[in-house]
Amino acid sequence: KREDAPKPPQQFDGLISTLPLNQEWIPIRLRKYQDFWIPEHSLPGVMAMQQNFEARPDDVFVLSYPKSGTTWLKALAFAIMTRTHYSMADHPLLRSNPHECVLFIPSVFSNGTASKLEAMPSPRILGSHLAYSLLPDSMKGSGGRFLYVCREPKDVFISRWHFNDKMRPDSVEPIPFERAFDLYCDGISPYGSIWEHVREYWEESLRRPEKVLFLKYEEMLEEPVGTAKKLADFVGCPFSPEEENEGVVEEIIRLCSFDSLSKLAGRMMHKLNTVIPLQTTSLYRKGVAGDWRNHMSEVMAGRMDAVTSQKLERSGLTF
Ligand code: A3P
Repeated sequence: KREDAPKPPQQFDGLISTLPLNQEWIPIRLRKYQDFWIPEHSLPGVMAMQQNFEARPDDVFVLSYPKSGTTWLKALAFAIMTRTHYSMADHPLLRSNPHECVLFIPSVFSNGTASKLEAMPSPRILGSHLAYSLLPDSMKGSGGRFLYVCREPKDVFISRWHFNDKMRPDSVEPIPFERAFDLYCDGISPYGSIWEHVREYWEESLRRPEKVLFLKYEEMLEEPVGTAKKLADFVGCPFSPEEENEGVVEEIIRLCSFDSLSKLAGRMMHKLNTVIPLQTTSLYRKGVAGDWRNHMSEVMAGRMDAVTSQKLERSGLTF
């Protein structure tokens, strides 16, 4: 941690220390807070956000269960919404990773820079991994728009397992794959349970389709052009026929593609955040659908599929 890093709010420390704890996803400590397992280091920011965040009616929120395509969706939303501000030759995404272009709201509260949020011009684009039920009322009732991306739970698990492995100090053994699998199936994983997370946003997207756009990572991979157009329409800045003819949609997709962002990340040598040190390149691994087949036995896959079916039963949502 940098010596001069702003301190997270301390008024919640007493409450946080009383919450149920899981320490197995080393180096992340999880606390069960309002029915979800939240990384302990994020909780002061989450609680401060719940108390203090003031949403605006034209805010756009990028929301997700982690490892579901957050980085990609942030890049796309940012590139689409700011496309008249920047040229492709001098685009902020060429210099900054998508999490710097679209900030996580709890991180802003936890690093003591919340005043940045008020200073941001509208429409703001902001992110969070919180489940819908944990969002502050100001966000849910603001009229702002929500972009949510979900992903096949087996692939999310594989992505998470590798990501955790990259965070681990060399001196510490990785969490055994089978143990991580059991915890994940039991809902004990960062921001989990994934099934409750996905179900809450799915149901909200059915209740308020004009405010919550529910996307699937696999469909984004299959239909990038359709996804970019859907996003632009939803946030109120559709591509004009001229832009489509000039190839603006394709340019944005190219800029935000796995190949482009992962290559750019290689040139960004700074760390991602001050609490858990990670290289920017750790955000990009394979960027494909179905990688679980290379890591999971049939039995494990069947077990996780059964959890998915049971948890999402009657929701109408399938993977
Ligand atoms: P894998 O680990 O399966 O490769 P998040 O951004 O929510 O943390 O999700 C990370 C996952 O999204 C990783 O999956 C990562 O490789 C993938 N990803 C990141 N950027 C992407 C992009 N531009 N296009 C497609 N996938 C991307």
